[in-house]
Amino acid sequence: MEESTDPLVDAFTTSFPVDRRLYAHDIAGSIAHCRMLAKQKIIGAGERDRIVKGLKSIEREFDSGRFVAIPSDEDVHMAIERRLIEKIGPVGGKLHTARSRNDQVALDLRLYLRDVIDELRAAIASLQRSLGDLARANLGVIMPGYTHLQPAQPILFGHHLLAYYEMLERDDERLRDCRVRTNVLPLGAGALAGTTFPIDREYVAQLLGFDKVSENSLDTVSDRDFALEFLAAGAILAMHLSRLSDEIVLWASPHFGFIELPDAYATGSSMMPQKKNPDIAELVRGKTGRVYGSLTSLLTTMKGIPLAYNRDMQEDKPPLFDAIDTLAASLKVLAAMVPRLRVRGDRMREAAEAGYTLATELADYLATRGIPFREAHGIVGAVVRKAIADERHLSELTLEDLQSFSPSFEEDVLEWLTPEAAVRRRAATGGTAPTNLRRRLRVKKLAGPSSNKKARGGRKTK
Ligand code: ARG
Repeated sequence: MEESTDPLVDAFTTSFPVDRRLYAHDIAGSIAHCRMLAKQKIIGAGERDRIVKGLKSIEREFDSGRFVAIPSDEDVHMAIERRLIEKIGPVGGKLHTARSRNDQVALDLRLYLRDVIDELRAAIASLQRSLGDLARANLGVIMPGYTHLQPAQPILFGHHLLAYYEMLERDDERLRDCRVRTNVLPLGAGALAGTTFPIDREYVAQLLGFDKVSENSLDTVSDRDFALEFLAAGAILAMHLSRLSDEIVLWASPHFGFIELPDAYATGSSMMPQKKNPDIAELVRGKTGRVYGSLTSLLTTMKGIPLAYNRDMQEDKPPLFDAIDTLAASLKVLAAMVPRLRVRGDRMREAAEAGYTLATELADYLATRGIPFREAHGIVGAVVRKAIADERHLSELTLEDLQSFSPSFEEDVLEWLTPEAAVRRRAATGGTAPTNLRRRLRVKKLAGPSSNKKARGGRKTK
C-alpha cells in the first residue's frame, strides 16, 4: 500500500481505547512467546533479554498511567510493539516472529477472561455468603411463599434466600465449566494457517498456565465461542441477580414492608420527602438488559463471517467488557447490601397467615386421615369459602366449625394450623423445614459467624 491511511479511517478502526485494558495480558503473552523463541533458537538470548526488559518497562508505563498512545496505534498490540521498538530499537521487531495479531488477540482475550472468571467466581461466593449470613441471622422468620404472586404457603425466609444461593451455585459451575474451554492456548496458529518456524507451543502453554494447545489454526483464530459461553453464563447470572433485586424492590415497598433498606443503600426523592427508593436493586435489575444485549451482540457479530479472522471480530470486546463490568459491579453491590437489609419478621409472619396460606395444611391433615387428597381439597375449599364469608382466619375456626365440614377433623387439627407447624412438617429433602435450612447452612459452611469480609472493597476485575 502506497498511501497512508486517512485519519478518518484511523479513528474508525482503532480499538485502543477499548482493548488497552488487555495490556498486562498482552505483555505476559509476549514475554512467554519471546522466551519460547529464544529456547528454540529463533532469536538469541541477548535479544530475548532486551525484549523482555523493554516489555516490562512498558508495563510499568501502563500501570502508572504514563503510557501515551499515538493516533496510528491501531490497537493495544500495535501500541506496545511500536513503543518496544522506540525503546530498544529494531530488535523489538523480532518479537513478532512466528506470530500474528490474529493469534495474539485470541491469546490476550483468553488470558484476560480466565482471570475475570476467577474474580467473578469469588464475587459470586461473596454474595452467597451474604445470603447465608442473612438467612442465619433470621433463622426463625416465616414469610408467605408465593405462586403467581399470590400468597400460597408459609415458608422460611431463609429458605427463600437460599433459593438464590442454589442459583448462584449453578452460575458458579457454569463459569468453572466455561473456564475449561477458555484455558486453551491459541498462540501458534499464526494469521490463519500456522507457522513455518520451529516453535514449541506446549512450552508456551506451560509458561502461561494453559491446560491444552488448540488443534486447528483456522478454528483458533476465528472462534469466539469461549467468550459467547461466558456471556451466556453471564446472562443467566444476571437474570438471577435481577430476580433477587426485583424481590428486594417488592419487599421494600410499604405494601409488603418485609424489609427496610439501610440508608446507605437507598435514595430519597427530590420532591417527595417520604420516599426511600430501592435504586440499587432497580439498577441491578435494569443492567440485566446490558448483559443480554452483550450476548446478542456477539452472537450476531459472529454469525455470518467466513473463516478465518475478519475485522468484525474486533467488535467482540466492547460487549464482552461491558458485561464483565456490569456483572462485577452488580455482584459487589448486592453482596454489600444484602447483609444490611433490615428484616421485618413481624410483617412477614403476619402476611404468612393472611390469605388462607394454611389451607393446604387442612387438606394434608384430612389426607393423613385416609381421605383421598382430591376429596380433601374439595372439603377444604368449602371451609375456606366459609371463613372468607365470615372474615375469619383459618386459625380462628373452632373444632366444631371444622367438624361441620368433615367428621374426620379431630382435636389435633388445631396444632396443624400455624405457620410454624406448616414449615416444620415440610421436612422431606429440599422442603422449607428449619431442619433442612440448618443442614444446608451447615453443609455449605454458612452456619458459623462468617461475616462477609470480601463483600466490600473486594478484588478488582479490570
Ligand atoms: N484489534 C484486532 C482485534 O481486536 C486485533 C487483530 C487484528 N488483526 C488484523 N489482521 N487486523 O480483532
